[in-house]
Amino acid sequence: MKFHVIKLNKVDSTNTYMKNLLADKELNEGTVILADFQNKGRGRGKNMWYSSQGRNLTFSILFSPKILTDNLFSLTEFISLSIADVLHKYGIHARIKWPNDIYVANNKIAGLLIENTLSDRKIEISIAGIGLNVNEEKFPDNLTNPVSMFQVIQREIDRNELLNGLLDSIISRYNQLISGNLFSIHEEYCNRLYLKDKKSIYKINGSFIEAKIIGVETSGELVLLHSNGFTKSYLFGEVEFVLKKE
Ligand code: BTN
Repeated sequence: MKFHVIKLNKVDSTNTYMKNLLADKELNEGTVILADFQNKGRGRGKNMWYSSQGRNLTFSILFSPKILTDNLFSLTEFISLSIADVLHKYGIHARIKWPNDIYVANNKIAGLLIENTLSDRKIEISIAGIGLNVNEEKFPDNLTNPVSMFQVIQREIDRNELLNGLLDSIISRYNQLISGNLFSIHEEYCNRLYLKDKKSIYKINGSFIEAKIIGVETSGELVLLHSNGFTKSYLFGEVEFVLKKE
């Protein structure tokens, strides 16, 4: 797979733009839509993605991995790891907050929005949207816990270099995935989890509960060890992290 980057000044959302392009014509795997500004950047669910003009990286990549839908979660895993890999090269130690937020300490530095088209138990097309906070100096107060690379390492980052580094990590992780090394990706993902093996508070069914993350199922469910000794797996939406304030 080769990347072909299409740079745009302004779009609604790079994921939406890619979807609309695909409705009109075929695109090669590896097509990247990169935007300097999104006026309707989308997060998971009903969330918006904030990024001021020209300061960060907001882009979407087209994959057609032809892997079974049973392995859908490995897409989240390999992209999350690729982001953590590139941050490591900048001296930033990142963790993955299940399922697909990238955290530095207790703050979110990147988010992922993966949208798939499935057919016949296979993943036909996957649009992976990545928002990485790069040179943002100050975020609006209404955002919960954002952080940028600039805020962590106190220096301005060349966004082109960063994008190239990130695309390199993505390609090597993708090769790891399609060559069948799904389990090693899964293990690395689990080892990089935010709050892994640490007693923390989670909100489950309206109650605040103390538990420890001990892993994630290959299907993507979060496995919690509760203080009373039982373990249970949770789907996204069933468990809420009660975030620590710094
Ligand atoms: C999240 O954390 O909720 C996911 C955020 C994903 C944001 C990126 S920015 C590029 C791509 N286009 C979008 O509209 N969203 C994703």
